[in-house]
Amino acid sequence: MQEQIQPAATVHGAIELPGDKSISHRYGMLAGIAEGTTKIANYSGGADCQSTLACMRALGVEIESQENLAVIKGRGLDGLREPAEMLDAGNSGSTMRMLSGILAAQNFVTRIGGDESLSRRPMDRIMKPLAEMGASIEARESRFPPLTIRGSQLHAIDYTSPVASAQVKSCVLLAGLYAQGKTTVRESIRTRDHTEVALREFGADLDVQGRSITLTGRPHLQARELRVPGDLSSAAFFLVAALIARDSSLTVYNVGLNPTRTALLDFLAGMGAQIKILDVRGSGELMGDLLIRNSRIRGGVLEKAQTAALIDEIPVLAVLGARSEEGLVVRDASELRVKETDRIATIAENFRRMGAAIEVLPDGFNIPGRQNFHAAEFDSFGDHRIAMAFSVAALAADGPSMVNGSDAARVSFPEFFDTLRRVAE
Ligand code: S3P
Repeated sequence: MQEQIQPAATVHGAIELPGDKSISHRYGMLAGIAEGTTKIANYSGGADCQSTLACMRALGVEIESQENLAVIKGRGLDGLREPAEMLDAGNSGSTMRMLSGILAAQNFVTRIGGDESLSRRPMDRIMKPLAEMGASIEARESRFPPLTIRGSQLHAIDYTSPVASAQVKSCVLLAGLYAQGKTTVRESIRTRDHTEVALREFGADLDVQGRSITLTGRPHLQARELRVPGDLSSAAFFLVAALIARDSSLTVYNVGLNPTRTALLDFLAGMGAQIKILDVRGSGELMGDLLIRNSRIRGGVLEKAQTAALIDEIPVLAVLGARSEEGLVVRDASELRVKETDRIATIAENFRRMGAAIEVLPDGFNIPGRQNFHAAEFDSFGDHRIAMAFSVAALAADGPSMVNGSDAARVSFPEFFDTLRRVAE
């Protein structure tokens, strides 16, 4: 599919985002292995989180979902059934990596695969700790999907993850649910803690000391009534759109404000963005409202732990960087090369198409500021965040642009183009 995007003079109004992708996955999986019926309001309608529900259904979990309310009848820790066919994780690395932790502990064999993009993404990062716990997993070329997971009785481990990845941490913790004793995961860089929050919501016993998390195995997970906050990573596209258009004023309601995700707001504020957090509510996962106005954006340097914290927002921050006064430097971002696309390459290609300068580095890029964007034919390359980031760039171009493969946005944000058209004029 293709979308035509007109330049916009201003971005204003009020929006709500789909349920957070990371949180939806975790609630969906934990609900399936909890005891009782969990109701999840604002469960993400994005294709990735629907892949998680489809996998849980194939594992015997009864799920009704309507209008973003998912009602999940948990089967308890040991109630999953052998699926009749290979599980399909679609485009979703989170589904494959996190669910593998649960599958590794089952008394049956599961095959799990995905689309072309997912089939190129490395799985050895989860295979290694799961093998240490006693699981046997085969993969194409020893590291790529599809995976064949032969579940077994797992034992608890103390694991220091060499990659800063919340998916790896989560996979080990989910496997740890099935192991006798205490499973510990140590992180070199703190990553999003939605799994820790969700495990506590469902009643697991968790001890967090700095960057080490210890889970006691074999808990009784109890069904809950939960609400997923709006996705801050999806909000990022609109925050940047409002920052680069003139006379903008945009309110974002009910967005997730988990402190391990809000580095985005701090980084934008550091660049000069005027963002007000109007209210913070909730326990567990926090939620609030944001007000953003177009602002003078100075520029910035993204490196080390901050890069890891903002890894999903980098495509749209690259667009902002090119419109800022001093530009944007991104380092320590080699993980971008193994996302849904090699995002360093796909960002650079779309920059080239709109006539903007970017210097590509092995682990990031340098983007000069004060650049003009020319109308262009962009490509998503099948990557949702690339589709949305360059739709935002198109708002600042000197004429109408096209985004090819725009349907990729449905992976996390099916209503993206409707929302964009409503607020950009
Ligand atoms: C996610 C973690 C990040 C992120 C992805 C979602 C999660 O991936 O990029 O979109 O929900 O845990 P990594 O764990 O590979 O860094």
